Amino acid sequence: MDLLALLIFIIPCYVANAAPVILGGGQPMDLGAKFTDGRRILGDAKTIRGFVGGVAAGTLAGGLLALYVPLPFFESAWAQFLSGFVLSLGALAGDALGSFIKRRMGIEPGKPFPLDQLGFIVVGLLFAYLVVPSIYSPEMVIFIVVLSYVLHIIANAAANRFGLKSVPW
Ligand code: CTP
Ligand code: MG
Repeated sequence: MDLLALLIFIIPCYVANAAPVILGGGQPMDLGAKFTDGRRILGDAKTIRGFVGGVAAGTLAGGLLALYVPLPFFESAWAQFLSGFVLSLGALAGDALGSFIKRRMGIEPGKPFPLDQLGFIVVGLLFAYLVVPSIYSPEMVIFIVVLSYVLHIIANAAANRFGLKSVPW
């Protein structure tokens, strides 16, 4: 498997995960509602605008890549575009799932947790499996997950450094 092609394949997932930091805000996805444990379902850090903006930004990135950087394992530009969309949707769903789990464990938004770096990529990969199962292998998944973990930590430290996030994680 071509590592560069893999990196390009996963870009929409990263864009979708990063965009809410800039595009997010406003009404939280859970509309302020609490779960049976009395804690917020997702919390104020998961907003509707962040979710929609993240999916849109990731899909846009995937669409541009499909047009200008066609990858060999996609049957068509349309299939590549679709993979960008599902990677983005999965990224935001995984991110929200991570927050749901954090809230159930009593961890406040902004407090670090290993799932912060993993939820988005794992669910993104899971969703994209439906579009391009042929490129999946244990090595491929391990490579992307480990790379993402490292990149996510670096990106958040940078976002904090440049004042986009109040905490470096
Ligand atoms: N964000 C958003 N909507 C989303 C996801 C993220 O608006 N669906 C924005 C919020 O401004 C959030 C920021 O992106 O503060 C960073 O997201 P994240 O690191 O996931 O938030 P945390 O503060 O870590 O909160 P949580 O514990 O819920 O993950
Ligand atoms: Mg977080």
